[in-house]
Amino acid sequence: MSLKNDLLLRAARGESTDRTPVWLMRQAGRILPEYRAVREKLSGFKELVETPELAAEVTIQPVDILEVDAAIIFSDILVIPEAMGLTYEMIEKKGPHFPKTIKSSSDIDTLKVADPSELSYVYDAIKLTKSELNNRVPLIGFAGAPWTIFSYMVEGGGSKTFSKARGMLYTNPSDAHRLLDMITNTTIGYLKSQIAAGADLIQIFDSWAGVLPPNHYWEFSLKYISEICDAIDEVPITVFAKGAWFALKEMNDLNCNTIGLDWNMDPLKTREVLNSKTLQGNLDPCALYSSFDEIEKETKKMLDQFEGHPHIANLGHGVYPDTDPEKVKCFINSVREFSSR
Ligand code: CP3
Repeated sequence: MSLKNDLLLRAARGESTDRTPVWLMRQAGRILPEYRAVREKLSGFKELVETPELAAEVTIQPVDILEVDAAIIFSDILVIPEAMGLTYEMIEKKGPHFPKTIKSSSDIDTLKVADPSELSYVYDAIKLTKSELNNRVPLIGFAGAPWTIFSYMVEGGGSKTFSKARGMLYTNPSDAHRLLDMITNTTIGYLKSQIAAGADLIQIFDSWAGVLPPNHYWEFSLKYISEICDAIDEVPITVFAKGAWFALKEMNDLNCNTIGLDWNMDPLKTREVLNSKTLQGNLDPCALYSSFDEIEKETKKMLDQFEGHPHIANLGHGVYPDTDPEKVKCFINSVREFSSR
């Protein structure tokens, strides 16, 4: 069965579309009261991620409520370290925490390249979502980039400096590569299984790209993203590397269709460098705190800057949880209105 709305896939392949497709990173989450209602009844975030019926329900909520042009499967990038042997906790109002972290070579010895079957609850959620979506819009699968996953495994959570993770690249580069290689291999199997379950497009999130110097970014991050892109040819791939403005030229050579831009990147300058890619983004999520009129203006300004280049409208990072859903709808409606040809 073909998709009723395939704008996202067409734009990703660089084909012309009647209007610009739009979705939001972190659209399935706390901005929606309907999400919070499901979430409140549970023991925690992980129960939601690990229960396919509930994960499917919150994945579809933004399609029904916000009328976005794609769903993104409800899960988290941290299921990968967990499958490799490093469990995480999601602490209310704080974020992820790893009780055990990777400090030494012997810590890496305790990990494994996970068999894709360890994450069967994600594929079950994808299958259920696909069937419930009934081909209305494409479903995006995702994973964290190896460097971002590595950072969480070494830091044990978020960090201001990422000094432990970045430090290991100087003090023990061979072990860093060993761990990155294990994460990469686990991720490739995981993404292939997501595609087999029905994911129509894959996005790779390199949330902490911007903390590395350019030479390290190439050696410890892009190299592995590139391996993932080369291993996956079944569906279009989007690479979102937050803060990696210094590596755009190299990203143009990745075997992927779309590059996600954060709000620091200038669309006009970026499209000259990334001339062979569809571009996704990149309105500042904080623009959605302004008035409805301002949001319309800012959205139009953004669309004008991408005019004539294959484009998927989105924010420059995930939508912030305290954003008014009506403002999100205003952004989405503005994209529909101003990009119609
Ligand atoms: O709508 C979607 O985008 C799908 C679901 C999704 C979640 N996490 C659900 C989630 C996706 C794509 C992610 C990716 C993710 N997770 C990233 C990469 C994207 C980015 O934002 O840079 C990262 C770095 C993580 C790790 C993570 N998970 C953090 C740092 C946090 C806490 C901070 C926060 O945003 O709340 C999470 C928790 C998390 N993941 C929540 C959701 C909806 C909120 C927790 C809750 O509902 O209790």
